[in-house]
Amino acid sequence: MNSIKHQNIVIDIQDGIATITINRPTKLNALNKDTIKELHHAFMKGDKDKSVKVIIITGAGEKAFVAGADISEFADFSVSQGQELASQGQALLFDFVAHLSTPVIAAINGFALGGGLELAMAAHFRIASDNAKMGLPEVSLGVIPGYGGTQRLPQLIGKGRAMEMIMSASMIDAHQALEYGLVNHVTSLEELLPLAEKLAGKIKSNSSVAIAAAIEAINAGYEDGENGFEAEITAFGKCFGTADFQEGTQAFLQKRKPKFPGK
Ligand code: COA
Repeated sequence: MNSIKHQNIVIDIQDGIATITINRPTKLNALNKDTIKELHHAFMKGDKDKSVKVIIITGAGEKAFVAGADISEFADFSVSQGQELASQGQALLFDFVAHLSTPVIAAINGFALGGGLELAMAAHFRIASDNAKMGLPEVSLGVIPGYGGTQRLPQLIGKGRAMEMIMSASMIDAHQALEYGLVNHVTSLEELLPLAEKLAGKIKSNSSVAIAAAIEAINAGYEDGENGFEAEITAFGKCFGTADFQEGTQAFLQKRKPKFPGK
């Protein structure tokens, strides 16, 4: 295993799966500025590395995925600093992750609050351990979610449920999150990473080029001014010019398993 430790994160790469662990357990992995920068670089590197087929994001320890943005860093911010905080964070991490070509799975291992839930929602899908608690408690601090939470939560669970969660600042448990469709699977804490790796294993046997095209087409339906159906037609057409498509179709016709070149 190739393990790289940074100040606030740890990156492990094994068999085409990069696991990024946010590592500030004494602060419940709260996202300070430095952690956001480190995550940006880690996601960028993972996405550029052709040998990395899936990225898993999780939190260190047994208590928290991420308990939110680091409140101590913005408590005295002005209006313009507040706007800058949200726009920089969205560009560096949250929108950045949502638009990566490499699939990102969030493995939620405890509290996912505020920016923590927003990070999990920016991932392409989520799984949770049964001790997980999720919420957007910002209005209890006199602010609103600023890392995409007011948009992604209603997209994932519906407007009424998102309104209730955001207005009440209350947390839901893993089973409620499963019922809402916020997470795809719930398992024990011990089984969380093995499950993420199992799901990643299924994904990485498929064409990475086609997966990137699928992410792009799915995202297009949620972008302002974009027509998802049109984006799908374009992305579908592009696949026909790829070596992966040649290999996938030939392998099917020759009754063998494909060996995708990833281009
Ligand atoms: N920002 C900065 N520090 C945070 C934090 C955050 N979002 N969340 C937790 N921490 C820190 C605490 O200040 C504490 O640090 P300390 O030991 O130096 O005092 C440490 O992490 C442990 O947290 P603590 O509150 O003692 O744990 P708890 O088990 O009593 O409570 C929570 C857990 C998650 C309920 C509580 O930490 C909490 O409400 N966190 C803030 C959640 C939030 O509002 N997030 C949205 C931010 S926009």
